[in-house]
Amino acid sequence: MEQDSLKSTYTLADGNRIPCVGFGTWQTPDGDVAYKSVLAALRNGYRHIDTATAYGNEESVGKAINDFLREGSVKRSELFITTKLHNQDHGYDLTKAAIEKSLNMLGLDYLDLYLIHWPNPIKFRDCWAEANAGSWKAMEEAREEGKIRSLGLSNFMERHHEKLMETAKVAPVVDQIKICPGIAQTSLISYCKAHGMLVEGYSPLGTGGIFKSTLMQELSAKYGRPISQICVRWSMQQGAIPLPKSVNEDRIIENSKVFDFELSEDDCKAISEIDYEALGITPQRNPDENKF
Ligand SMILES: NC(=O)c1ccc[n+]([C@@H]2O[C@H](COP(=O)([O-])OP(=O)(O)OC[C@H]3O[C@@H](n4cnc5c(N)ncnc54)[C@H](OP(=O)(O)O)[C@@H]3O)[C@@H](O)[C@H]2O)c1
Repeated sequence: MEQDSLKSTYTLADGNRIPCVGFGTWQTPDGDVAYKSVLAALRNGYRHIDTATAYGNEESVGKAINDFLREGSVKRSELFITTKLHNQDHGYDLTKAAIEKSLNMLGLDYLDLYLIHWPNPIKFRDCWAEANAGSWKAMEEAREEGKIRSLGLSNFMERHHEKLMETAKVAPVVDQIKICPGIAQTSLISYCKAHGMLVEGYSPLGTGGIFKSTLMQELSAKYGRPISQICVRWSMQQGAIPLPKSVNEDRIIENSKVFDFELSEDDCKAISEIDYEALGITPQRNPDENKF
C-alpha cells in the first residue's frame, strides 16, 4: 500500500485527491466537544473531516476548521471537507438551499465532497428516484459553480445507483457505506470500483462495539497494536477510506497510527468474518426499510 501517512491521498475518478483516512463526527455534540475534537484531529495530522447536516454540528466543525486554517500551517486546499444532504431536503429546490445552508454553517467557500446521505428517506419514499435525480441536478450545478468539488453518495446500494445514473450527467465518485469487522461489503465494494466510485467505510470501530471481540483482542496481542488500529488498518486493506470517530484526543491520535504495520491476508479474512451481531454491532441498514 502506497499510503504512508494521514496526508496520503487517493485520486478520485474526477481527478480530485482524497486523503486516505477521514475523521468522523457523528454523535459528536455541537459546541465545545465538536470544536475541540475536530481541532485536535487537524492538529494531529488528519486532513479529511466527515460531517453531515443530520449530525447538527456543522457550525462547530466549521469553526474548528477555520481556526485551524488561521493558525497558518496548512492551506485550505490541503484539507478535504465532506458534508451530506439531510433526509428532509431531497429534490432540486430543497437541495439547492441545503447546499447554501451547509456552506454557511461550515463557513466555507466550497465543499470538497457532498453526499446524498440516504437514497430512500421516508419523506420521499413514494418518489425517491425522482427526488434523488432532482438533488443530483442541484449538486451538479453547485459543482459547476465551484461550490462543491466532488459529488458522491452514501448508503446507496446497486439499485439506487443504477436509477440515479439514468439521469445523472456527472457520475458519483464516492459511496460511503458501513464497513467494519464482520461487515466487509465485498460485493458492494467491487461494484463501486467497477463504476468509478471509491468507497468510504463508516463505523470502522463498529461504533465502539468491536472492543469486546475475542478475535480482535488476540490480534491486538499478536500485532502489538490496539484494536482500534487493527480495525482502521483492516478497512484500508479492504480498499476503503476509514472514518474513525472519537472525541478524545488520545484516541484520535491512536486511531491514526496505522501506516507502519500490515495485517496478513488470513487475519484480514478472519476479521471480515467476525460475528458482528454477537457483539451487538448493527448491520448496514437497508435504505429501503429505514424509518427516517
Ligand atoms: N453515512 C452514514 O450514514 C454514516 C453512518 C455512521 C457513521 N458515519 C461516519 O463514520 C464515522 C465513524 O463511525 P461511528 O461514529 O459510527 O463510529 P466508530 O468510529 O466506528 O466508533 C466510534 C466509537 O468508538 C469510540 N472510540 C473511538 N476510538 C477509540 C479507541 N481508540 N479506543 C476505544 N474506543 C474508541 C468512540 O468513543 P469516543 O468518541 O468517546 O472516544 C465512539 O464511541 C461517523 O462519525 C460519521 O462521520 C456515516
